[in-house]
Amino acid sequence: MAGSALDTSSTDEARARLADQLLARRWVTSPAVEAAFRRVPRHLFATHGISIDAAYADDVVITSRGPDGRATSSISAPWLQAYMLEQAGLRPGARVLEVGSGGYNAALIADVVGPEGTVVTIDIDANVIERARTGLDRAGYQQVTAVHGDGEYGHQPGAPYDAIIVTVETPDLPPAWLDQLAPAGVLIVPLRMRGMTRCLTLRRHEDHLLAAAALQCGFVPMQGDGRSPARRLALRGDDVVVVLDDTTAEVSLDALAAALHTQRLEAWSPVTITMEEGSSFESLHLWLASQPRPFGTLAVDRERSAGLVDPQDRFVCPTLLTADSFAYLAMRKLDDTTWQFGTHGFGPDADTLATDMLDLITVWDHHHRHSPGPKITVHPTGTHPPEPDGPQLLVTRRHAAIMVTWSASEQPR
Ligand SMILES: C[S@@+](CC[C@H](N)C(=O)[O-])C[C@H]1O[C@@H](n2cnc3c(N)ncnc32)[C@H](O)[C@@H]1O
Repeated sequence: MAGSALDTSSTDEARARLADQLLARRWVTSPAVEAAFRRVPRHLFATHGISIDAAYADDVVITSRGPDGRATSSISAPWLQAYMLEQAGLRPGARVLEVGSGGYNAALIADVVGPEGTVVTIDIDANVIERARTGLDRAGYQQVTAVHGDGEYGHQPGAPYDAIIVTVETPDLPPAWLDQLAPAGVLIVPLRMRGMTRCLTLRRHEDHLLAAAALQCGFVPMQGDGRSPARRLALRGDDVVVVLDDTTAEVSLDALAAALHTQRLEAWSPVTITMEEGSSFESLHLWLASQPRPFGTLAVDRERSAGLVDPQDRFVCPTLLTADSFAYLAMRKLDDTTWQFGTHGFGPDADTLATDMLDLITVWDHHHRHSPGPKITVHPTGTHPPEPDGPQLLVTRRHAAIMVTWSASEQPR
């Protein structure tokens, strides 16, 4: 391997091991995607000094951070890259735009679409594009076009694309992506809806887009003209933060911070979960976010906030709000395999919020827990979302309205 002290046989072995893992865990299901993971050398796209084990772990590799220490660029986790590639269903000769670069994923895409295909990868950070270009050339994927620019506007010269794969979290769907997508094209996009990010597989359906699949995921947030970060209410520095992705929620930072000093109210639901059912959380979280009421998510530093707050999820925990009170989803261990859902409430309305949370958990358990999940549609501005036929969340952004509709017709168990 040129220009590196890394041992070739160990990088080959590490790469083979990663591909085997992705196959075993069913993230990789097609021969073309498997072949790409077996061929593309991931370590050539990682930052200098990283170990082979870290370069080929099924985990994200952070490649740059902003002044606040938060990641601004990374090589995404292989399982998630595999998922997106499989969802895209790319064929040899396909034309693909990747928004958010790094080089590795673009090389995987290029491997799948082959020499007849077209791959454009765009990033807003010139350093990322420079690193991507170097890695692509060293890895033998010179045919990929790496563009420095704001992915909000896509890349018209390469359009139309059979697939647009967005690898940065976005709150909205900018018009350029739809304009540059071929009529039967697929848009894979980590879309943020009320603080919940789901990787959606979107295709055109009538005048809107319909998600064929949705998977919980995390990406660095979009910068540039599409930047629209959620509001962060730091209740105790960065230790306890309520994140509001909803312009309509009227809450007071001071009042919520004061609520944190009130006695914690704990309430427990008869609804339980076993660890094998891990993916149920995705559905419960989105269900709680779908309620027509003030809602946020809680992010905590587990160690520094220990004893004060103990949310079910430390990064994105569903939280019901009033102006001066909050109640988040909690969980406690009943035995070696079973956990019980509940809530912790703070502030003057803690009691009411806790009761509401338990009721919502019960409704989810009876009607939605075992369903395939809500229907998610995206309606570009100028089109009209239909009347809902069940409980729904409508998120209105600058360019599109996102609808999450829960079927009302499911039978209780
Ligand atoms: C998770 S990384 C991309 C990972 C990459 N696809 C890989 O090979 O694994 C997200 C990237 O999106 C970029 N980004 C953020 N906002 C962007 C925008 N508006 N247009 C293009 N790129 C953007 C960041 O600079 C960052 O490099």
